[in-house]
Amino acid sequence: NNKYHERKDAMYKINTDAARFFFANLRNNTEAKEYFMRRGINQSTINRFGLGFSKNDWKTLLIHLRKKGYNDKAIIDAGLAIKSEKGTVYDRFRNRVMFPVFDYKGKVIGFGGRVLDDSKPKYLNSPETLVFNKGTNLYGLNFAVKNGMAERYFIMVEGYMDCISLHQYGITNAVASLGTALTENQAKLMKRYADKVIISYDADLAGQKATLRGLDILRKSGFDVRVLTVPQGKDPDEFIRSNGREAFLKLIDNAVSLIDYKLGKAKKGIDFHNNEMIIRYGERVTEILADLNPVEKDVYIKKISEETGLREQSIYDMISDKITRNTESIE
Ligand code: UTP
Ligand code: MN
Ligand code: MN
Ligand code: MN
Ligand code: MN
Repeated sequence: NNKYHERKDAMYKINTDAARFFFANLRNNTEAKEYFMRRGINQSTINRFGLGFSKNDWKTLLIHLRKKGYNDKAIIDAGLAIKSEKGTVYDRFRNRVMFPVFDYKGKVIGFGGRVLDDSKPKYLNSPETLVFNKGTNLYGLNFAVKNGMAERYFIMVEGYMDCISLHQYGITNAVASLGTALTENQAKLMKRYADKVIISYDADLAGQKATLRGLDILRKSGFDVRVLTVPQGKDPDEFIRSNGREAFLKLIDNAVSLIDYKLGKAKKGIDFHNNEMIIRYGERVTEILADLNPVEKDVYIKKISEETGLREQSIYDMISDKITRNTESIE
């Protein structure tokens, strides 16, 4: 166990040295500096998040770390270098802007690296290591916590840039799940600091799917969950950069509950002058409302009755039909 902790500490140390190296590289690379500038990232954000650059070369980090006394095995185990089948060792991250990933205490556990153009893969991440596990960490959590969590809720975004951008605009309770589906472990980690989460994923299809999955996991973990919808197919970073802080704060105010989010999705494309569509909407709505308590049902059924012209009683009947059918199928 002592050995285990020593090995982990060694890995934090090598990651920290790598982060310092990437950070120093950025100073000397105009292209990378311009990349961040073009994306509206200022120097103070670069410093706070320790952003950096990995050179367009095969061994610069490797040579640097060897000089500092690390052996190749340690460098490879930390996910910073790769050994080819022929036995050649080379840097994993090359010609990318670098995002160190911190754990909630602020220790460097791994990296994400982004290409400066449109090539693929867009982001390359550290592999799973002794200290890097995407599913048990949240990007930005250390900064959110350090800033006091005055708002008592988190804003959950998808990407590095979304998180960094929101922080730069003073929205310091943003954390990123880093593209992975949100996990129960991540939910538990957040639960130490807040009981409410606003999901603010990308407006694309992948983001919508991830939102539904994330909603379920967060609800099971006991969070009050709301969904913020970024308009016009954008992500939070793009939105706040073109519309500003106040506009994003408005989106936060307009974030909706799980039920309203699901009803909103069910309503997409429904033409209320078309009978078949109304019937289909009625069926979708039945699915969504079945789990609610009687008071919640009353509230939503009244609303739906008004917009569709369906009698409230018919919607109640549909729901109890559905529940009866489900019970029968269980027996
Ligand atoms: P997105 O594709 O939405 O990227 O992926 P982004 O964050 O908006 O990237 P920019 O704005 O073009 O720089 C969301 C997140 O999914 C993970 C990254 O964590 C990314 O921030 N991802 C995405 C990867 O790990 N690898 C990829 O190739 C793409
Ligand atoms: Mn996306
Ligand atoms: Mn995208
Ligand atoms: Mn983006
Ligand atoms: Mn995105």
